[in-house]
Amino acid sequence: MPAERKSVQRIGVLTGGGDCPGLNAVIRVVAKAAILHLNLEVIGIEDGFLGLIRNRMRPLSTGDVSNILTAGGTILGTSNKSNPSHFAVGKDAEGRPVFEDVTPRVIEHIRDRHIDALVCIGGDGTMCGAAGLMQHGIPCIGVPKTIDNDLMHTDITFGFSTAVQTATECLDRIHSTASSHHRVMVVELMGRNAGWLALHAGLASGADVILIPEIPYNIEVVCETCAERSRHGKRFTLIAVSEGARPKGGEQVVNKIVHDSPDPVRLGGVSTVLAEQIAARTHLETRATILGHVQRGGTPVAFDRVLATAFGHKAIQLVATQEWNQMVVRQEGRIGMVPIESVAGAQRIVEVDDPLIAMAHAVGTCMGD
Ligand code: F6P
Repeated sequence: MPAERKSVQRIGVLTGGGDCPGLNAVIRVVAKAAILHLNLEVIGIEDGFLGLIRNRMRPLSTGDVSNILTAGGTILGTSNKSNPSHFAVGKDAEGRPVFEDVTPRVIEHIRDRHIDALVCIGGDGTMCGAAGLMQHGIPCIGVPKTIDNDLMHTDITFGFSTAVQTATECLDRIHSTASSHHRVMVVELMGRNAGWLALHAGLASGADVILIPEIPYNIEVVCETCAERSRHGKRFTLIAVSEGARPKGGEQVVNKIVHDSPDPVRLGGVSTVLAEQIAARTHLETRATILGHVQRGGTPVAFDRVLATAFGHKAIQLVATQEWNQMVVRQEGRIGMVPIESVAGAQRIVEVDDPLIAMAHAVGTCMGD
């Protein structure tokens, strides 16, 4: 869509998808820079696209975004079930969700509120939602977030570094109890279909085994690694496993299906399956821990605060120059932008020739293959 050059007076800002540390840092810089430097009004949209669907939004002042830089979560709330073009409006007779395209309702609310453009902070699902609105002439700017670090065309998303730090601290704690009790400890990390989080936290904590979705594991190899360590007097093994990891020729473990979500599969439980298999085959005492949503919470680390602020600042520069329908990215250390459409619905996974895999092998870490 060619950029329409009309004056922008009011922008909306929303946070969509799963939350992560750093969202408030983006909201803060977007609102402050828009109000103080561009003289714009800023409307905070509640709960991602749900706020546009239900017409729930409120003006944001600089006071509203003061003192939120270090706070985890998002002051606006979020939702990962509210893509306007595929929104669950009710249930059929069998209890299955009925989806509708509610974009016209969203457009009406945007027009009624005199919102000229949107800053959409989110992951691939949020970029899909933004791409849909762009097709109806709503100018959007995307800001990439996710602890999974799996957005295309950006080397890093904010939230990821904090999640790596949190997961590493958890792995360190489990390391010490593993050592005391001479156990195999299987620790499950989030990440969906990308192994970035398990790979980084696994490397940082010196995990003995790291299992990621991109490298299907051989259970014999995993068990032999535990047994071999035990034979050589290493009386414990620390395993970091991505929730999306799967055995060679096998399937991922699904925790639940969220029927009214556009992306309904929630992974989870592979650590429990692995722990049972390892215990049965090696007779080593084994425990599983699922880190879960603890990885998404808490105050952002300094790196994420700065990255989120850099992304939000770039977003507001794009608003100023009316370079619409772009998502802010970081590529080779520089902040840039790519068309939102090139990101929507795609995932950036770990390549098997990623230097991190070679590093893991170099320190003797088993990658399950
Ligand atoms: O995308 C972020 C993420 O935390 C994934 O790592 C995880 O699979 C998923 O969201 C969990 O979603 P929910 O919050 O709906 O359980």
